[in-house]
Amino acid sequence: VNADLSFDIAGTRTEVHFVDQPSAPDCTVTVFDENTLRLFGAGTGTVVSLPAGETSKTWENIHRVLERCASIGMGRDASIGGVGGGVICDMAAFAASLYMRGCGLVLVPTTLLAMVDASLGGKTGVDFMGYKNLVGSFYPASRIVVAAGAVASLPEREYLSGLAEVIKTALIGDETLFLMLEERRSAVMARDPATVEEMIRRCIAVKGRIVQEDPREKGIRALLNLGHTFGHALETASGFTGWTHGEAVAWGMGRALAAGERLGVTDPLLRRRAEALLRAYGFRLDERPTYAALAPAFERDKKRRGGKIRLVMAYGMCDVRVTEVAEGDVAAVLADGAGMKERASP
Ligand SMILES: NC(=O)c1ccc[n+]([C@@H]2O[C@H](COP(=O)([O-])OP(=O)(O)OC[C@H]3O[C@@H](n4cnc5c(N)ncnc54)[C@H](O)[C@@H]3O)[C@@H](O)[C@H]2O)c1
Repeated sequence: VNADLSFDIAGTRTEVHFVDQPSAPDCTVTVFDENTLRLFGAGTGTVVSLPAGETSKTWENIHRVLERCASIGMGRDASIGGVGGGVICDMAAFAASLYMRGCGLVLVPTTLLAMVDASLGGKTGVDFMGYKNLVGSFYPASRIVVAAGAVASLPEREYLSGLAEVIKTALIGDETLFLMLEERRSAVMARDPATVEEMIRRCIAVKGRIVQEDPREKGIRALLNLGHTFGHALETASGFTGWTHGEAVAWGMGRALAAGERLGVTDPLLRRRAEALLRAYGFRLDERPTYAALAPAFERDKKRRGGKIRLVMAYGMCDVRVTEVAEGDVAAVLADGAGMKERASP
């Protein structure tokens, strides 16, 4: 099935094309990781292959990509391609934003997470001095080629990690998608191609609409961070081991829903329904780290906002809002105990 979407993201037109099976894009230099090169690398021109995984998101590897472009005399009108998960999409996009002050960029996302999230919206970057995505740029792809069939070879945990973002996106902006996830769980888990493609198309439509309206995250783009404040704190506290990003976001959504209910903004029925969906897909919601363990991750927020922490909360289905919450309330919801004193101020 071919369905095309397009968005105007801060003056760049991003076209999204759906194809059945992924293949290498027709670019002068294409970045892969070792897995995506093996799976989808046939017939490509100049290739840069990076080791798989987050540890490849380095400045040194950006240098490698740029060096390859320069050594073959690639011009500004040519394109860098990226075939892979979020790591490769972020790397290819960052390199493209720098080469000759910006060359063409075509992304072929091959993980569910990259299809529904990382390939769209212009955020690029590398990890730097131990900080995730500390150095980067804003550079939307001109073309994104989505082949839902690529998810067939994904390890189960990577697929599920992407599904957490799908559930998040449904809660933020697509009730039909939410229903689909509830009612067609076995087709989703079996990675039925038509179901997966519909899911991806719906997620891209929601994210595209949001980043188109607010590319630089001055307002509504922040809503895409539902579950991320708690989730990121958990990832940091656990040293990025034991939890995939998606698992941490799913847990974080659970805590954000709990916080919303305690502050009287989230309908208890919605919380129950969303938690049931997250649990149905096997996400762990019951972890209760202490506030002290997560506090360092909240420090910057707290300093900036006089002791308040900004959370994205679900006020209803497809009604999420950024809300400032007192530190004590965050601590209470982590312990899942009583002690919520203040009401939220939206
Ligand atoms: N720019 C953004 O807006 C944005 C948004 C979300 C996440 N991200 C970034 O995305 C990254 C995480 O992305 P990810 O979860 O895709 O991780 P990833 O890119 O490391 O891919 C996960 C693993 O799956 C393998 N893989 C990829 N496609 C495959 C396929 N079709 N079959 C089998 N194996 C395959 C990869 O080789 C890798 O080992 C993080 O660095 C994060 O910061 C960026």
